[in-house]
Amino acid sequence: MNTIKSFLTTILIVVTVVACTKSQNKKLALNTNSTALTIDEKVDQLISMMTLEEKIGQMNQYNGFWDVTGPAPSEGHEAKKYDHLRKGYVGSMLNVRGVNDVRAVQKIAVEESRLGIPLIIGFDVIHGYKTLSPIPLAEAASWDLEAIKKSSEVAALEASAAGINWTFAPMVDISRDARWGRVMEGAGEDAFLGSKIAEARILGFQGNDLSKNNTIAACAKHFAGYGFAEAGKDYNTVDVGTSTLNNIIFPPFKTSVEAGVKTFMNSFNELNGVPATGNSTLQRKILKDKWNFDGFVVSDWGSIMEMIAHGHAKDLKQAAEISANAGSDMDMESYAYVSELADLVREGKVSEEFINDAARRILKVKHELGLFDDPYKYCNLEREKEVIGSSEINEVVLDVAKKSIVLLKNENELLPLKQKNQKIALIGALASDKTSPLGSWRIAADDNTAISVLEGMQKYSGNKLTYAKGTDVALGKIGFPFELEINTNDKTEFNEAIDIAQEADVVVMVLGEHGFQSGEARSRTKIGLPGVQQELLEAVYEVNKNIVLVLNNGRPLTITWADRHIPSIIEAWQLGTQSGNAIAQILYGDYNPSGKLPMTFPRSVGQIPIYYNYKNTGRPTTDNPNIVFWSHYIDESNTPLYPFGHGLSYTNFSYSQLKVKAKGKNQIEVSVVLANTGNYKGKEVAQLYIRDLFASVTRPIKELKGFKLVELAPNETKAITFKLTEKELGFYNNEGVFIVEPGNFKVFVGGSSDTVLEEDFSLK
Ligand code: NOJ
Repeated sequence: MNTIKSFLTTILIVVTVVACTKSQNKKLALNTNSTALTIDEKVDQLISMMTLEEKIGQMNQYNGFWDVTGPAPSEGHEAKKYDHLRKGYVGSMLNVRGVNDVRAVQKIAVEESRLGIPLIIGFDVIHGYKTLSPIPLAEAASWDLEAIKKSSEVAALEASAAGINWTFAPMVDISRDARWGRVMEGAGEDAFLGSKIAEARILGFQGNDLSKNNTIAACAKHFAGYGFAEAGKDYNTVDVGTSTLNNIIFPPFKTSVEAGVKTFMNSFNELNGVPATGNSTLQRKILKDKWNFDGFVVSDWGSIMEMIAHGHAKDLKQAAEISANAGSDMDMESYAYVSELADLVREGKVSEEFINDAARRILKVKHELGLFDDPYKYCNLEREKEVIGSSEINEVVLDVAKKSIVLLKNENELLPLKQKNQKIALIGALASDKTSPLGSWRIAADDNTAISVLEGMQKYSGNKLTYAKGTDVALGKIGFPFELEINTNDKTEFNEAIDIAQEADVVVMVLGEHGFQSGEARSRTKIGLPGVQQELLEAVYEVNKNIVLVLNNGRPLTITWADRHIPSIIEAWQLGTQSGNAIAQILYGDYNPSGKLPMTFPRSVGQIPIYYNYKNTGRPTTDNPNIVFWSHYIDESNTPLYPFGHGLSYTNFSYSQLKVKAKGKNQIEVSVVLANTGNYKGKEVAQLYIRDLFASVTRPIKELKGFKLVELAPNETKAITFKLTEKELGFYNNEGVFIVEPGNFKVFVGGSSDTVLEEDFSLK
């Protein structure tokens, strides 16, 4: 059987090579027609036809000619890029978008190169393409895996209609540092929640059939440790121990592999002294060998070349050698592989087997995407027109935007607002801003395309609505790649805001960060309200205390004064295209808030890193005021401003009857009764945490191990059950081995990580 197959394969290769020399157009048709072969066989067939340079070409990714999402390359590369496309020395391009432009570069690769191998077209579809969903941190606050999956599904739908077939998302980096601007792009601080969200997003992007024209390949990034940059400064050094690496940083990546993610991106940072890009323990030993990842790894932008600055490689040639040997399969914008790898192979410094392996992985994903069947399958102008900005997509992003909002505080039931006969003053530059709500990472979305809060509220015409800006958030040019300039200190419009506040029954103030104050390279040391917005808030408070503060931000903020004084606070992040509609529906009670924080809000920057799953220490928190020598600050509380998992509703939920039952060896069933004791129908995220009291490697004081989204009508009660198995009860030891240790545990269930109900159980 095998002999017949290899005979047929040889015939096919001969026929293909002859055909290639005869007619360029027949090249692909031949590949397409060889349906008798599996994808692996087709890839092997192709590999055997390729020169060393062509195989290395597959490992080379160039940026397009217009957008940049990293340091722009020096002049003179344009001509070289076209030349390399023609020679078959380019496997992928990023930042080429739109059917016409994608078709143009694809045409060169397919019709002008010797073998006609199609390009894979990558793009940062982080929270949508042109119609934007909330930033990922906001979406994570929904804890609604179905809504998150749907949001990635429509992002894939829109991006694929614009010619794109590969997104550099999801970012699955865990972070505990709100100073790091990229927290906006992840799912927050928790590995369990982060893993569930990673899976939902990958399934959303890739669907269950990657060869369809509305699904795209996903990319789990940045492998690994990028979210632990020292002091929250982007690209900074990362030095973490094995326990944190195995139990906090790795799980969402491992889950991504299990969810079938097709690609990984490595990271800019060094990890314990070795840059991730040149780290073979990470990429070969753990990712490819231990986890059996069979997709490919792309470097981050220029991260191969950056190993020189890291002090790990002496020049570009050595950087290429180290990263290729370490398992970085594709070079994004370092120009290192295309210029150095062939010589390195000839000199015996990089084995050709590594090159074959990398090219094989890349070609396989291209096959799975169906690009060999039809390289232009994503290039349909009519479909592009029809799909982008469609009402179906807008409905989905509105739905997830509402679900992403977190009610942080609501005293005296100031919210929801009445829909009639109230005088409402709306204040804040962000309230009328139609660009900032789009958030960071929105390269394809146009300025001024978000619904503003002002527009959203104007739809509720039963009230008298007045608006004043009060002050700007920021001065200067805002927009990638320009740096956001310093915040304004202009208070000349304060009086107008104070005047309308004086006349109002309720004041709604939309304050916070501009959309470009978080994101890549946007680390901050001060994370209060930027500019003079805090002063504006206090000035308005002097004349009217009925304030609803609507926060717009890409990271947790230190809003301690607001928490002390302002009766109602809504965390509305940057919610994307439908932002203003979502916020208005929450304010007026047409949607009852159900979001919960995916990241702890600190009281002050000095508390960072602050996270709910900390270790007890040998000198834990105490209520005894006479004890001096314990782990604490003398000028700040140990507690956060708002804990992980916190989020209120217009109704009230109560938890009772927590019970634990052993169901077989290391199988535990936990049940609790949840009741809606308030006046509104609402959704609650019931959260389950465990604590392993004694272990060979100390465990955190609480770890999220389950959650359920439950909807209840007023006075309705539901019993909820959770199952705990070895998967939830074990942990990774310092050798990276997953173990389950017998002993005593606690289980906690409630509406935040600050839960009150607890029970004990033990594992034999
Ligand atoms: C650099 C970022 O770190 C990465 O996440 C992104 O995908 C690439 N640039 C491409 O834009």
